Parts: sequence; C-alpha cells; structure tokens
Amino acid sequence: MKKKKHIPLHIDIITVLPKLIESPFEHSIVKRAIDKKLVKVNIINLRDYASDKYKHVDDYMYGGGAGMVMMIEPIAKCIEALKKKRTYDEIIYMSPDGELFDQKMANNISLLKNFIILCGHYKGVDERVREHFITKEISIGDYVLSGGELAAAVVCDAVIRLIPGVISDETSALTDSFQDGLISPPAYTRPADFKGMKVPDILLSGNTKNIEEWRHEKSLERTEKRRPDLFKDTSPR
Ligand code: ADE
Repeated sequence: MKKKKHIPLHIDIITVLPKLIESPFEHSIVKRAIDKKLVKVNIINLRDYASDKYKHVDDYMYGGGAGMVMMIEPIAKCIEALKKKRTYDEIIYMSPDGELFDQKMANNISLLKNFIILCGHYKGVDERVREHFITKEISIGDYVLSGGELAAAVVCDAVIRLIPGVISDETSALTDSFQDGLISPPAYTRPADFKGMKVPDILLSGNTKNIEEWRHEKSLERTEKRRPDLFKDTSPR
C-alpha cells in the first residue's frame, strides 16, 4: 500500500476575491514550499456558499449606516463544510482591530497543523461570526486595507518561510530580523568596491568569529537606533 504523504501545514483561505490572493502563493519561497508539499494552501471562494442566485455574500447593516456587512449564512456554511474534512487548530479572522501580528505570532502559527483564514471586506463580518466561529483575530498594522486578502498573504508568507525545510539554508529563517528580537545587520555582495563605496574590511577578512561579533554589534546598534522599543520587549521569542 502506498504511504500517504504527511502535509505539515494545511491552510484554507476564505475570500470573496480569490484572484487577489492567488499570486503571493505562485512565486519564490512560498511557491517552492507548496511544490515541495511542505504546505497546502486552499483558496475558497465564499460566493460558492451564497444562498441566492446572484451569489450575494453581503447585506445592509441593521440599524442603518454606510457600508455592507458580510452575512453569517454563507460563512457558516463554508466553515461547516470545511470542518467536515478536518479539525482546525485555529479559525482566524483578518481585521484591523485584531491582535497585532509580529514574529512571535508567526512562530506560534507555524507550529499549527492547520488553520482557516477568513478575509473580511466591506464593513467587516456580522459580529455573530466573530463570536461563534472565529478563534483568533489578527491585524497586520494600524491602518485599514480594502480587505483582508493582502493581510492574509502577509501572515501566510511570514509563517510558511518558518516551516522546517522551506528555506534551503536551515539557519536562514532563524537569522531573520526580529527572530532574536533584533534587527538584522547590514548585508553586502560583490563588488567589494563600487565606485569607491567599499564593503567593510572585516567582512572580507575570512575571520568567522570576528565577523559574527561585528554582525551582532551592528544588530544591536541598528535596533537601538531604529527600534529601541524592541529592547523593552523582554517576552520570550
Ligand atoms: N483588513 C483590513 N485592514 C486590515 C489590517 N490592517 N490587518 C488585517 N486585516 C485587515
């Protein structure tokens, strides 16, 4: 009997704009992760779960006010259908009033087996969706996007690159900025001298220990200058 291949991470993304979110999964590191079957990303068109022939998934707000609200019915139908296939670790809703996304959250999400991401639109979703279906709400920053798709792509990208085996140089994702609470040191490549703009001598010295020390020092300097708030955050990463 053929052995079933284990997929470490399964992501279902529910959206009204599937085309908008396809592209980030079709390039570079994320695409390679999908090709290597280290992650499976399933994009679901919420309109497939609409009840009327016009495929409506939104309606006017009770109590009046500008903007449409995404209806509970198609979302509930969609999530129920997905839940028949597997048990989810998290059902995430992308929203500007969610918990602020950071590297620590990306690390935690990368350890999950599967999750759903629901992308909001218009004035957001009927509050009952948040109360009864959603287990986690994420914001990627204090600004309002037209919908949750781009935010979902940001979260998926940050998470997928952390899955073991996705980045060929195993240590690479671990040395990213923020991974140790610090900003990455400056990086250089050829030529060593471009019109008098020189690469620091130490990087050409071949002395690994000195180079590591220099990089750590530069990381500290940069973090202090650009993101002093990171020094105040003492929570484990
Ligand atoms: N949807 C709209 N704006 C958003 C944001 N900043 N983060 C997550 N989802 C969003």
